[in-house]
Amino acid sequence: MASVAWAVLRVLLLLPTQTWSPVGAGNPRDCDAPLASALPRSSFSSSSELSSSHGPGFSRLNRRDGAGGWTPLVSNKYQWLQIDLGERMEVTAVATQGGYGSSDWVTSYLLMFSDGGRNWKQYRREESIWGFPGNTNADSVVHYRLQPPFEARFLRFLPLAWNPRGRIGMRIEVYGCAYKSEVVYFDGQSALLYRLDKNSLKSIRDIISLKFKAMQSNGILLHREGQHGNHITLELIKGKLVFFLNSDNAELPSTTAPVTLTLGSLLDDQHWHSVRIELLDTQVNFTVDQHTHHFQAKGESSYLDLNFEISFGGIPTPGRAWEFTHKSFHGCLENLYYNGVDIIELAKKHKPQILMMGNVSFSCPQSQTVPVTFLSSRSYLALPGNSGEDTVSITFQFRTWNRAGHLLFGKLRRDSGSFVLFLKDGKLKLSLFQLGQSPRNVTAGAGLNDGQWHSVSLSAKWSHVSVVVDDDTAFQPLVAVLIDSGDTYYFGALYERSCEAHKHRGNPSGLYYIDADGSGPLGPFLVYCNMTDAAWTVVRHGGPDAVTVRGTLSGRPRSAASFAYAGIPLSWWVGRTNETHTYWGGSLPDAQKCTCGLEGSCIESQYYCSCDAGRNEW
Ligand SMILES: *[C@@H]1O[C@H](CO)[C@@H](O)[C@H](O)[C@H]1NC(C)=O
Ligand SMILES: *[C@@H]1O[C@H](CO)[C@@H](O)[C@H](O)[C@H]1NC(C)=O
Ligand SMILES: *[C@@H]1O[C@H](CO)[C@@H](O)[C@H](O)[C@H]1NC(C)=O
Ligand SMILES: *[C@@H]1O[C@H](CO)[C@@H](O)[C@H](O)[C@H]1NC(C)=O
Ligand SMILES: *[C@@H]1O[C@H](CO)[C@@H](O)[C@H](O)[C@H]1NC(C)=O
Repeated sequence: MASVAWAVLRVLLLLPTQTWSPVGAGNPRDCDAPLASALPRSSFSSSSELSSSHGPGFSRLNRRDGAGGWTPLVSNKYQWLQIDLGERMEVTAVATQGGYGSSDWVTSYLLMFSDGGRNWKQYRREESIWGFPGNTNADSVVHYRLQPPFEARFLRFLPLAWNPRGRIGMRIEVYGCAYKSEVVYFDGQSALLYRLDKNSLKSIRDIISLKFKAMQSNGILLHREGQHGNHITLELIKGKLVFFLNSDNAELPSTTAPVTLTLGSLLDDQHWHSVRIELLDTQVNFTVDQHTHHFQAKGESSYLDLNFEISFGGIPTPGRAWEFTHKSFHGCLENLYYNGVDIIELAKKHKPQILMMGNVSFSCPQSQTVPVTFLSSRSYLALPGNSGEDTVSITFQFRTWNRAGHLLFGKLRRDSGSFVLFLKDGKLKLSLFQLGQSPRNVTAGAGLNDGQWHSVSLSAKWSHVSVVVDDDTAFQPLVAVLIDSGDTYYFGALYERSCEAHKHRGNPSGLYYIDADGSGPLGPFLVYCNMTDAAWTVVRHGGPDAVTVRGTLSGRPRSAASFAYAGIPLSWWVGRTNETHTYWGGSLPDAQKCTCGLEGSCIESQYYCSCDAGRNEW
């Protein structure tokens, strides 16, 4: 009987473009209390420990208990130290120290944070994708102030480099304070309606601030309408926030189109983002995370005539309380303030100003699917296959702005070849490589590099292989192979630069893909690596053009690299001193795109940077 080997995951190939500023958060001046030292040992966990006295519970700053700090079993880049703060806190600084009286310290590390301990976000340090500066000896403490702070319950320290004459060794502290959080959850069929007090003086300036965490890429965040078609609407559309403002009198011939302003992208990443809207007649300041845009509607009237009702999460149809004219929001709102009024608190207390429509609840559920972001062209995910099964079925979702990149790699039964699922020119391709045969390809879908989620399903049964993208494109050629991973499926980039690198990984002789120049212009190619030889040999597989190369292929550094692999989440450029920058000419640090991308003025608007559209300009 055939059983099914399957794997389901969502693959996030691009990071969110911004970190947020703490709108309405506590005053950073008095938000410096040590948070980790008071926690019990059980709040600390880690990837591994060298011995029971090197456990994560011994990683509190300036303590000397146990062996004097946390040290993992093996010192490599796959280790982490995690702290559970017990609840979401505002975190303003971190500090690190090596293991007490040892030669074990970490010289550079990454910091990740998470609400629930599953969906992690990397804290981006200024303009750099590199790690945080760590220690240079075992005992001095290195502080790092987080600008901006973040809110999280879980933190992870990931050592990147350590004393070459010692091991990974860490003691840490986290500084911050309590974070006040009122949340409301909309299931995509619910909304809150807030009735403003008609008798109170109309405030001159309206200020709306909130944070949102979106589970889906489309939905109404807020809406207020008035006489003559005047309205303001904030809507999430394909992961971007769009602010609509119409101040024209609909009964007169319209002289201008309604004003719309779009900010952000990939905001549906299930992480918190902040929004602040300041409205003075038709003048608007619109801030998403840290990016503010100022604009003014140039309609007939500079006066916005709005009703005394504002809805959040959806636009209720008048008269029919549970129907919505637009797609409603699915996700959570937090700390929602309208001119200083805490809307969520009013809703919780069932105040008469608030009408709840549909199923509204006051806690934010953790998502069941967790996206995985590939941070470098070397990042990949290896999942166990099911050796010897007749049927293989793999489904996952991905998103990327890259036109080319690798999604999945696996071997054919009994090492008779391999298959690669990859993007090329925005299309999904499956290539089957078999010994002694030219590669066979299947293509499906188009325009898949639009930054939206796409679902992929690959199945192989007997000699049929099918690839389905977004449920509407399928190809089912007959191929005389069985896809049987034998041991492992690799998601994301999976290319060593050379056979030598494969050898270092302990791989035996066989067919391998190598990518000689990393994210350069050369694609990866299939080679035979003969591991028996001390100086390895590369034999290009597949016919008369077989070549034998001796020595090491070396990649030439490029001064500017655009997206080349699906495995690279960012576009970046390499500076004169080989430092990596995630922003481009004129753009804000950490925006991970060019100025034109932020302002939507790129030559081809779907790309972040003009150079991504194949142009020479940024
Ligand atoms: C927008 O921000 C600027 C600068 O902070 C401020 O001067 C202006 O009054 C703001 N406009 C509105 C409508 O709040
Ligand atoms: C309302 O939502 C909560 C939490 O999301 C859920 O447990 C409950 O079953 C829902 N109720 C209805 C009537 O849909
Ligand atoms: C399949 O794709 C590979 C490269 O991906 C190419 O070399 C080969 O010619 C293609 N085969 C066919 C039959 O199109
Ligand atoms: C691998 O290298 C060894 C030593 O040079 C040689 O004897 C052997 O034939 C090679 N194998 C292949 C498949 O090229
Ligand atoms: C930058 O990297 C290249 C290649 O790795 C190296 O040859 C060069 O010396 C480096 N330059 C600096 C300034 O570190």
